Amino acid sequence: MTLTDTVPAAPTRLPSKRTVLMCRPDYFTVVYRINPWMDPALPTDTSLAVQQWQVLYDTYVGLGFDVKLVDPIDGLPDMVYAANGGFVLDGIAYGASFTHPERQPEGPAYMTWFGDNGFDVRVPKNINEGEGDFLLVGDVILAGTGFRSASDSHTEMAEIYGRDVITLELVNPSFYHLDTAVAVLDPAPGYENPNIAYLPSAFSAASLAILEERYPDAIIVTETDAAVLGLNSFSDGYNVVIASRAVDFERQLRERGYNPIGVDLSELLLGGGGVKCCTLELRS
Ligand code: ARG
Repeated sequence: MTLTDTVPAAPTRLPSKRTVLMCRPDYFTVVYRINPWMDPALPTDTSLAVQQWQVLYDTYVGLGFDVKLVDPIDGLPDMVYAANGGFVLDGIAYGASFTHPERQPEGPAYMTWFGDNGFDVRVPKNINEGEGDFLLVGDVILAGTGFRSASDSHTEMAEIYGRDVITLELVNPSFYHLDTAVAVLDPAPGYENPNIAYLPSAFSAASLAILEERYPDAIIVTETDAAVLGLNSFSDGYNVVIASRAVDFERQLRERGYNPIGVDLSELLLGGGGVKCCTLELRS
């Protein structure tokens, strides 16, 4: 018997073109602390942040993505984390309403961009931090709560989009947004058996049980990979842009037939964000 008889071939993965919104980190720095990754006493290098972010931007363009840009605003250093600017599906942009006062002006700034760019904007009634806590997996929306988005926003979302919204409770302050603890691997709606990767210890026991039941084939990442925000990644269904330091996650993705592409966003990690945080998907 040869090895090929025993090891099933990884399935063929098909990329699909994505449209995303990003924000150049021209004003990025760390001057307040709203998550455990942030330490205002540590120096930041804004030009290095811009250079690293540019590599992510160029990677997306190279993958054929349509990348839109929102203008950064002086005094809003976290605006680079575009994922938090809202959630966009079926041409409807559900605006963000931030937990911390430091980020609150970002909500209207992103809503203005959505309105100017033809999206049907819904002003949120409840605290929520956009795609940081809302992830579309196939036809359902996984929704995080515990640190940032209020669970009432999950109900509001379900009403707006008419889809199932699955509440998941986060319990580790280092993984305060859902997109730091779950990676969506097969993002296109209508995909059969869409898969995810996640960090089990980031969830309450009840939420972990939901993930185990819904995604029996999920990739389970190591604490080490999660600690470099390896899960904070962006997939087009084949290419998965990840933190270059998440080496075991990279191996697991390859084994499953995905094409991991590592990028180094070490400077933006000082603000507690990675690849996905810098990326807001626009679904028309
Ligand atoms: N400093 C930002 C905050 O704490 C980082 C946001 C990261 N974004 C994300 N989608 N996880 O709000």
